[in-house]
Parts: sequence; C-alpha cells; structure tokens
Amino acid sequence: MKKILKINQKIKSYNKKIFVEGDKSLSIRWVLISSLSEKKSIAHNLLKSEDVVNSINCIKTLGSKVKFNENRCEIIGNGFHIKKKGTIFLDAGNSGTLGRLILGLLINSKNKIKLTGDKSLSKRDFSRVIDPLKKFGAKFNSRKTLPLSMEGLTNPKPINYLEKKGSAQCKTTVMFAALKSRGTTKIKAKKSRDHTELLFKHLKIPIQIKKGMKFDSIKVRGLKKIKPLNYRIPGDISSSAFFLVLTILSDNSQLLVKNVNINSSRIGVIKILKKMGAYIKFKNRKIYKGEKIADIFVKNSKKLKSINCPTKWNSSAIDEFLIIFLVAAKAKGISYFKELGELNQKESPRLIWASKILNLMGVKNIMTKDSIKIYGNPNLCLNKKIVIKNFLKDHRVFMMSTIAALSFGGNWKINDADSIKTSFPKFLKILRDLKS
Ligand code: S3P
Repeated sequence: MKKILKINQKIKSYNKKIFVEGDKSLSIRWVLISSLSEKKSIAHNLLKSEDVVNSINCIKTLGSKVKFNENRCEIIGNGFHIKKKGTIFLDAGNSGTLGRLILGLLINSKNKIKLTGDKSLSKRDFSRVIDPLKKFGAKFNSRKTLPLSMEGLTNPKPINYLEKKGSAQCKTTVMFAALKSRGTTKIKAKKSRDHTELLFKHLKIPIQIKKGMKFDSIKVRGLKKIKPLNYRIPGDISSSAFFLVLTILSDNSQLLVKNVNINSSRIGVIKILKKMGAYIKFKNRKIYKGEKIADIFVKNSKKLKSINCPTKWNSSAIDEFLIIFLVAAKAKGISYFKELGELNQKESPRLIWASKILNLMGVKNIMTKDSIKIYGNPNLCLNKKIVIKNFLKDHRVFMMSTIAALSFGGNWKINDADSIKTSFPKFLKILRDLKS
C-alpha cells in the first residue's frame, strides 16, 4: 500500500512532552536472546514495529512460543538447539539487524537455513557476517547477498575476529556464534553500540571486555544454556532524534522526550547537535540493567553553527546523520562530515539520498563517496514544490523529509509513509500531537 504525505506549511511553535517507542536495537536483541532460554522471558515496551515482528516470526519458526499484546511480550524459547526437521525458511523483511544477528545464533543448527529479505535488504552486504561465520565452520551458498542458505555445525570452533567497520551488527553476530561455540572467541572491534555486551553481562554470560580508545577487546566463552531475560525497553534515541531536530529548527518551541536510552555508544547525535549550538539537557538520569536512561529536554536554537564533525562520533550517530544534515542546512558556515561510506550501506544509500534531498531543497552541498560538505543558510526558507520518492522505501529518508518540510516550509509530497512501520510506527501520531 502506498501512502503519500502532503505538507505545505511549517509546524507552529509548541511546548510538549512526548514518549517515543522502545529502542529497536534492544528490542531485536531481547527477542533473539530470549529465544535461547527455555524459561519465560517478559518484556515491557517492546517496539511493535515490522522489524521486531519479523524477529518474533523468525524465532516462532525456530520453535519459540510468543505472546505479544499492546505493552507486554512473553517468550518461551527453544533453548540452544532447534528441535525441527528439514530446511528452515526465515524472512528478515527490511531488517539488517535481524538478518545478520540471526545467522550468528544459528551457527550450531543442524538444519539448512534459507534466509530472505525485502528488496532493500536483498541489496545489502552480507559478506561482512558470512566471512566470520565461515571461520566458525558454517557453509554458505552465497558470498555476499540474500537470498542465502547456510549450514551450521554441531560443534562450532571459537575464532579470533577483527571488526574494522565499527559495526555493532557484525560484532553481535560473532558474539552470538561465540556463545554457541566450545571455548573462547576473541574479538577486537572498532567502537560501536554495546547493547549486546551489556545484556551478556547482565545475564552473567562469561564475557571479558577491555575498552580501548578506538577498539574494544572482547572475549566470549561458549555456554550450553542461559537464564531468561526480563526487560523494560527504554525509548529509542534514533526515533527521538527526529523530534529533537524539529524542535531545534522550530521557532520558540521546546520539548521533553521522556525515558530515552542514552547509552554512551548511541549519543553521538547529542554531542554533534550541542557542538552546533543546540540547547539539550539530560534530566532524571538513571541506570537500568547497565543501560543509561534519561529524559531529554531540547529548545529551539536561534544561532546554529557549522561543524567539522569528528569521525570518532560517526559510529555513535550512524542512524542520525540524515537528520543532523538538516541542522547543517540551517547552520552558519560550511559543515563537513567525513568517513561516512557506511551510510551508503543502510536501508538505502543514505549519503546519496541526503545529497539529493538537500539539492531539491536548494541547499548547496558537495558529496564524495564517503563525505559531504553542506553550505548552511541561517535564513533557509522554502516555497517550492518538492516530491520525494525513495524506491527502497527507507523509513529514515521518509522521516528526514517530513521534518525538513515542517521546519523549512515549501510544498512537499513525500511518498511511502508506510515505511515508518519498520522502526517507528507512531511517528506521524506523535507529530499530530505536537500540532494539536
Ligand atoms: C544496529 C547497528 C547499526 C545501525 C542499525 C542497528 C544494531 O548498524 O545502523 O540501525 O542494532 O546493531 P551497523 O552495525 O551495520 O553499523
């Protein structure tokens, strides 16, 4: 089903408090990890989006029992071994996180696994997880993309693995496979979100972590079973970021986003926006099962300045760059973002899309294969027609375009509103609440 969102005026000033839905990374990890325990795990505030529902469908196919109503989800998993016969067909839909992580979990599967995904996922690189999983002993029919089939092995051997991209998906896939191997897997990983490490620690899975400046060293020892995992999923900072930026760009507005996960490996967006002159404060800080949580307060900023964005923040803001680029469009001076080749490996080639949308908005920018320079204009105000059609239906391209329309004006037609169902189904409802 196609849905077109038409916007032809800026949002009026607001002063509101909102909740965003549960964090996607934590939601998918909770589902997959819970499938490993034969006892009941319970989650509250699990994100009810297509990526998470596809994760649930996959573990159900593998033998887990799941009850999911509005705010509570229960999983009784199938333990460390799948008790099914024959080839198992799994569909990861649009989710790179699900598609990659589940292969790690299935390293010890006796069944042949056939994994498919939608048009966008079928274009994405799977060699990044196929290669390390082959080292554990798995066999694959594909070298790079979906659909693929994998054959696991009863006794995977632990590996030494160097993760150089700063990809939490690659790191987690290997950590999951390590959990099912005999012996200790040693990982040296460029810094990336560390939710899996925190969950492993909380579950008392034998893990050792040495934090370095750019790389972390992680050792995971294999096990035969794990405890159930009860969890209250905090709000998603990646979803919050769209509203933080809308508020920064909207005259006389202010916003409180309640109960958001502010894990240090996820708050690159906050550091970047603050460096650009935004007013953002964390309130009511607490720690929950190793994760940092806070309410985020943000106000409209009259004076935004350009940034030469330090690359050390890239991984911790990787899902937020599209929306950060809108702040750069209004900042005084030329902003420069570099070493961002990974952005073109997402649900759609996002660096290319960012440049396209900025061009449509009349914002001068110079893009290379892994960088973009954005020439900001503090008086940016649009009154032209803009049509956005992202053929890969990238949810974040849709949300970036919506926020651009509401912040800068113009006459916008934004296709594929349905794309938000993958990560943030309540996005448009929250916007309506801000307007009312
Ligand atoms: C994720 C890691 C990131 C991020 C994705 C979710 C995760 O991907 O872009 O949305 O949950 O581990 P990479 O690990 O490929 O950078």
